[in-house]
Amino acid sequence: MRRKRIVLGITGGIAAYKSAELVRLLVKDGIEVQVVMTEAACGFITEATMQALSGRPVFTDMWDSRIADNMAHIELSRGADAIVVVPATADFLAKTANGLADDLLSTLCIARECPLLAAPAMNRQMWQNAATQRNVAQLKRDGVTILGPASGDQACGEIGMGRMLEAREIYEAVASFLQPKFLNGKHVLITAGPTFEAIDPVRGITNRSSGKMGYSIARAALDAGAKVTLVSGPVSLEPPAAARLERVESAAKMFEAVKKSAKAADIFIAVAAVADYRIANPSKQKIKRTSAELELKLVPNPDILAWVAALPKPPFCVGFAAESQKLNELADEKRRRKKVPLMVANLAQDAIGADDNEVTLLDDGGTHKLPRASKPEIARQLVAYIARQYSGRKNKKS
Ligand code: C5P
Repeated sequence: MRRKRIVLGITGGIAAYKSAELVRLLVKDGIEVQVVMTEAACGFITEATMQALSGRPVFTDMWDSRIADNMAHIELSRGADAIVVVPATADFLAKTANGLADDLLSTLCIARECPLLAAPAMNRQMWQNAATQRNVAQLKRDGVTILGPASGDQACGEIGMGRMLEAREIYEAVASFLQPKFLNGKHVLITAGPTFEAIDPVRGITNRSSGKMGYSIARAALDAGAKVTLVSGPVSLEPPAAARLERVESAAKMFEAVKKSAKAADIFIAVAAVADYRIANPSKQKIKRTSAELELKLVPNPDILAWVAALPKPPFCVGFAAESQKLNELADEKRRRKKVPLMVANLAQDAIGADDNEVTLLDDGGTHKLPRASKPEIARQLVAYIARQYSGRKNKKS
């Protein structure tokens, strides 16, 4: 895939220090960042800092002789995937809403061919001011994406709305904005996390699944334009705000939730580590300790994935196989038994609870390895692969 390129505009506000961290995060993600600063921004953060972090010369002036035809205001944004202005002052918002172009950054914005994103940062009264609100509404009508602001402590000592989002939040918004919309309009149903099978009101059987892989896939699917239903076992992760979340505990409840959504789903991704067994007769009261042995009778849980795959018109089904040995062989056997077109195999000892992963995709076309990377990165690659397989199938059928 072509390397993404953004123009990062910095205007003169104290939140400019956060744009240094933002550049670091974007560059680390492989995104090329061209920094453009206003004169006022240079009073808050230096060009040298931004040049060192972006690895590229910084532009501040309309008449910069480094651009051969002296058209910096046009050239710098050509080929860019977006202009992102962080922080965006009240003055910048006012100028852009009214089409003023009196410095390099505002001129670049009016001459752009790409989308514009802006993260406002200002004192709460400046933010609430009727003119600012009018300008923001106008910018939104013009198709500009406004990121934040948030409410909280302000540099002036006041507390209120107008505080800029944190660098990581802006990075996530930009990274998801830049993702190709492979799954536009598709409904993706995902199970994630472990299940908890009650023994009595306080005890139960569960496993070490953290939900990180499933939640990362939910985020990647949303970023790819999908509508996402996330059926989650008990985990301590922040769910993606745009997903429809159904929290469940037991495999039986997970099954119920999946049954409700499966028929309307285009794609089903079963990431959850569903308990194979549950307690036959969970006790209504807390079991008391005695010196006698205690026997628990376990009965098998329904196989949610196999049930969905056996529907008369199943969604495109993707399973996960966590194995501790003979990875590909066991995963492929599982794929055939559950009759799913795609199985994602990972080593249980490597994957469960970890922040990164390494997976092998198995389908009718053979095996395809995704080398070790963070779970969000694996999720992005996996969603792109699923989208290709899904549309390939659709095309074959039609
Ligand atoms: O547990 P097993 O190795 O069979 O899991 C393989 C796949 O099947 C996973 O995608 C898992 O989410 C799914 N599964 C399920 N319901 C079960 C057991 C597994 O949906 N009861």
